[in-house]
Amino acid sequence: MERIALFPGSFDPFTRGHAALVAEALHLFDRVIVGIGNNLAKEGLLSVGNRKRLIDDLYAGEPRVEAAVYTGLTGEFAERCGACAVIRGVRNTTDFEYERTMEAANHRLFPAITTVMLFTPAEVADIASSTVREVHAFGRSVEEFMPEGVDIEKYL
Ligand code: PNS
Repeated sequence: MERIALFPGSFDPFTRGHAALVAEALHLFDRVIVGIGNNLAKEGLLSVGNRKRLIDDLYAGEPRVEAAVYTGLTGEFAERCGACAVIRGVRNTTDFEYERTMEAANHRLFPAITTVMLFTPAEVADIASSTVREVHAFGRSVEEFMPEGVDIEKYL
C-alpha cells in the first residue's frame, strides 16, 4: 500500500527549510502532499493560489510531491488525502513546544494519523517564512532563504 504523508503549513512562502523537509519525508513516504492551510483571517505575503503555484513549479519534475490548498482541520484533510502521517519540521525547542500541543490535539481527534516530526537540517534551521516576509518588506533579496532557483517575485 502506498504511504502518503501530509505536510501541512502556511508556506508563506515555501522556503529552503521546507524543501529540505520534503526531501527527508520522501525517504520515508511514497508520496508527500504539501497542504497549504487556508487561514482566512491571515493576510499573507503571497496569495494562497500563488503559494500553491510556487510549490507546483518547484516540484514539476517530482511526481511524488503535490501541493493542495485546504480549509478546516488538518487531521480531516489528512484523512481525505488518505495520508497515514502528518509531517512537521522542528528547528528548536520553541517549535517543539508548539508542535507537542498540536500533535496532542490531532492525536486525540484523529488517532489513525501519526504525526512525524522531522528535524530541519542544521544548515537551514535558521530559516523561517516570517523572516523571509520581513527581509522582503525591507526591500532586500530573499534568494538565500528560498529553494534553489525560486524567484519570489514571480509569485507576488
Ligand atoms: O506553517 P504553520 O503556520 O506552522 O502551519 C500551521 C497549520 C496550518 C499546520 C496549523 O495552524 C493547522 O493545522 N491549522 C488547521 C487547524 C487545525 O487542524 N489545528 C490543529 C488541531 S486543533
